Amino acid sequence: MKNKKQAIGVFDSGVGGLTVFKEIRKKFPYEDIIYFGDTARVPYGPKSKHTVIDYSIQNTRFLIQEGVKMVVIACNTSSAVSLDILQKIFDIPIIGVIEAGSRNAVAHTKNGRIGVIGTEGTIRSEAYKKTILSIKPDAEIYSKACPLFVSLAEEGWVNHPITKDIANEYLHELKDKDIDTLVLGCTHYPILKPVIQEVMGKDVHLVDSAISILTDIESKISKNTDNCIGKDFFFVSDNEDKFCKIAQDILNINNFSLSKVKLGETWYIENNYLNPE
Ligand code: DGL
Repeated sequence: MKNKKQAIGVFDSGVGGLTVFKEIRKKFPYEDIIYFGDTARVPYGPKSKHTVIDYSIQNTRFLIQEGVKMVVIACNTSSAVSLDILQKIFDIPIIGVIEAGSRNAVAHTKNGRIGVIGTEGTIRSEAYKKTILSIKPDAEIYSKACPLFVSLAEEGWVNHPITKDIANEYLHELKDKDIDTLVLGCTHYPILKPVIQEVMGKDVHLVDSAISILTDIESKISKNTDNCIGKDFFFVSDNEDKFCKIAQDILNINNFSLSKVKLGETWYIENNYLNPE
């Protein structure tokens, strides 16, 4: 990996964090970005807190070995349970999505009634609830785990009637609570934004953590000043072909550097699939 600048590191449990990657790439065109998707061990949502923390430590260590200057935890589940620990262990800036999403929700709500949807791990942790209440103690928070949304987004079933049925089933209790703001507390949910918006109604503001986190990155980053367009480096732990396909759909690019890496054990494979040069 020649000519790599000190990069922004981003990790997620899999492909969902590409929604975060996409926003970071747009906002920081001169930065190199190294993305790691833990496609061998996805999903993190139903796993225990300790397992997710363990994976998150390995992912961060890997990105730091690759030379990143900061780490963005794109994964909500990992942000919810491991941010504090990672910040204690590693001495570079590490940012999660929970605080930015919470701030954004508080900034938008008018009636103080905020919904949060996410994986089981994120909702169980109550990380959004606690963070929102720390900013706005009188807010009323209604949370709901929507685990099937992850698979539906990965299938690309954005306009599928089943997705609408499942969204109705998951979201009706939040609708009944008269919320005016809904936090999409999972990397995959922005992919389903149209159907979630349709079910919730146009007056409910949807908070996308991918966008909310950009100001946090800006405040912590030491910017590259060489004005050379940044490069993208992708790593996954399995299923490179599936990753390629979804990455092409989400990012709309055909040529990128993708390597496979196995974490948590002693071996490491590097295999450049689609090298731009
Ligand atoms: N990336 C996860 C999150 O944002 C969703 C997928 C998973 O369960 O690993 O919570």
